[in-house]
Amino acid sequence: MKQTTQAADLMAAVKEAHNQGHSIGLVPTMGALHEGHISLIERAIKENDLVVVSLFVNPIQFNNKEDLEKYPRTLEADLALIASLPGSEKVTAFAPTVEEMYPDGEPKETYRFGPVEEVMEGPRRPGHFSGVAVVVRRLFDLSQPTRAYFGEKDYQQIAVIRALLEQIKYPIELVPCPIVRADDGLALSSRNMRLSPEARAIAPTINATLEQAAEMAEYEEVDDVKEWVLDTLASFHEVNPQPNGLRFEPEYFEIVDARTLQPIADWNEAGDLGAVGCIAVWLDGVRLIDIVKF
Ligand code: PAF
Repeated sequence: MKQTTQAADLMAAVKEAHNQGHSIGLVPTMGALHEGHISLIERAIKENDLVVVSLFVNPIQFNNKEDLEKYPRTLEADLALIASLPGSEKVTAFAPTVEEMYPDGEPKETYRFGPVEEVMEGPRRPGHFSGVAVVVRRLFDLSQPTRAYFGEKDYQQIAVIRALLEQIKYPIELVPCPIVRADDGLALSSRNMRLSPEARAIAPTINATLEQAAEMAEYEEVDDVKEWVLDTLASFHEVNPQPNGLRFEPEYFEIVDARTLQPIADWNEAGDLGAVGCIAVWLDGVRLIDIVKF
């Protein structure tokens, strides 16, 4: 594995790969790597000659200062983990400073993606997807990848990146990768590190509820499934009393067309990719997201 904090080093590695006709896989991350990231890196190693793993906590995609400050930073452990993977000699790990990433100061450009960003995370995190698009485009420019790998836990982010690629017309293959879960079903996330042991113990209820919702979808209407999921999580602490006032506070649960991300009112409205349920839930001061495919 090679590692650098310098855009110029990365560009030199990319130039050399292009000169040799090599394919390049990009795995953008904000570090605090877990098995979910590792699955993306392993797939990228399998499918490409050079793999660029970026590790950069992108300040302009955080609309909440506290969330940015609390975001886990574990660079040394992340680099050791990547270096331990079979095939890691193909990897260039790029961990720039904010100044290296944004040498002209905070970027002025903004992106709009229309309906795909006007639901769920979009209105609740103003500027978030534009901030993601700015950094991802910069990473595309620096690493000129053949393929870019993103996890499906951030389902809406994938739709936004698809829209970004349509806007900027870069010939990059977008590779969505399945969620990796802990043995008890909790979707792996860097934010899980911030859960207390008591919260971590009940957090798998989110996935368990979504799995039950998928079964209900066989015979219940969309609105009834939505209401059941929200009620089940919101009333969990009443049925199962928790220490320290611990409770689930669902922010939203939407059942949407898996391509357009527009809410559906009837299962028949879902198009070629089917329907997907997307949830954001607060637990123990941590915002967790997850999805279920119907
Ligand atoms: O999904 C993430 O970790 C981030 O949004 C990304 C894609 C690395 C951009 O900062």
